[in-house]
Amino acid sequence: MTDQSTPALFTPFRLKDVTLRNRIAIPPMCQYSAENGYTNDWHQHHYASLARGGAGLVIVEATGVAPEGRISPACLGLWEDGQTQGLANIANSIKAAGAVPGIQLAHAGRKASANVPWEGDDHIAADDPRGWQPIGPSPVAFGAHLPREPEAMTKADIERVKQDFVAATRRAVAAGFEWLELHFAHGYLAQSFFSTHANKRTDEYGGDLANRARFLLETLAAVKTVWPSNLPLTIRFGMIEYDGHDEQTLADAIQVGKWFKEGGADFISVTVGFNIPDAQIPWGPAFLAPLTEKVRNEVGLPVATAWGMDNPQRANDAVATGEMDLVMVGRAYLANPHWTLCAAEALHLDNATWVLPAPYAHWLARYRPASAE
Ligand SMILES: Cc1cc2nc3c(=O)[nH]c(=O)nc-3n(C[C@H](O)[C@H](O)[C@H](O)COP(=O)(O)O)c2cc1C
Repeated sequence: MTDQSTPALFTPFRLKDVTLRNRIAIPPMCQYSAENGYTNDWHQHHYASLARGGAGLVIVEATGVAPEGRISPACLGLWEDGQTQGLANIANSIKAAGAVPGIQLAHAGRKASANVPWEGDDHIAADDPRGWQPIGPSPVAFGAHLPREPEAMTKADIERVKQDFVAATRRAVAAGFEWLELHFAHGYLAQSFFSTHANKRTDEYGGDLANRARFLLETLAAVKTVWPSNLPLTIRFGMIEYDGHDEQTLADAIQVGKWFKEGGADFISVTVGFNIPDAQIPWGPAFLAPLTEKVRNEVGLPVATAWGMDNPQRANDAVATGEMDLVMVGRAYLANPHWTLCAAEALHLDNATWVLPAPYAHWLARYRPASAE
């Protein structure tokens, strides 16, 4: 349906054997609604409703590869076979709406064992049976609302977590996901190995850049052995901290991005490190877009970013000018599951309703509710 006049945001995007119907992706957003890591009716409803809105890619929230890798006791998991079916149902309902189903696999590291955001977002007290002992590269707490000191991981712990990623990846394949995102961001475990704030190790997993990247690269390599080679293997990577050392962090992150590429990663979702509580983040519309373009040019992989990309014209410009290949739209999509349709209308797409699944598109092409006049 696309031609030369189609706005860039609504052109398809192909990566390996996967084609997204447009450049709009919904980034992972934790629902903090699971029990023992299992999906329930809320997750089913939430993801189906996002997918029916017309986005090209829907990435299921941070899903713990191990029980202690969950952010909160209410986070999703994929550490046991029984958790696969619920996620398969979600992947199927995303596909039924014409979107590609993705999943983010995660280990929360020293930020794990927290209360859900609407119950404090802080670490669960050490003597509370709902919580558990977090682990990390070094016994350095995040601070602020997450004061609990993680237990430093032994080499055996590192090996176990890598294998947890592998086992969860196998289950994600079995569940029918077609886009894998490894969560190497936001101050969680992999990110904290990369971070000089969190990683004070003196062995081969700490110190210089190659050592701080080792856990990430080994995890990527391990996962690659079980993820289908025709499907996108992607990484969400925190590439800047806003801690006063941004030039160095960014240079390091770009080097690691090149290693990701050599290691077989297909795509990077650029984000913030969130390794310190007092970062001076310059929040604002599209604030990561220039950085994302730099990563695209210097690493040589397709990229995306989130964080305030929800102005349709700005989102379209980002794709049209080559700042990024996909635009991630999170909270705006929670507020309006038809964000894609609204963006199509804002960009004066001919027959905007064709961005929706056919059973809606056909009727809405001929009908405008009075409220839309
Ligand atoms: C409710 C909620 C849950 C989130 N959970 C995750 C997550 O599971 N994994 C992740 O990498 N980012 C997570 N994020 C960050 C989003 O993926 C996204 O980067 C952020 O919302 C900024 O994009 P936006 O301005 O379009 O909302 C979450 C954000 C929100 C609002």
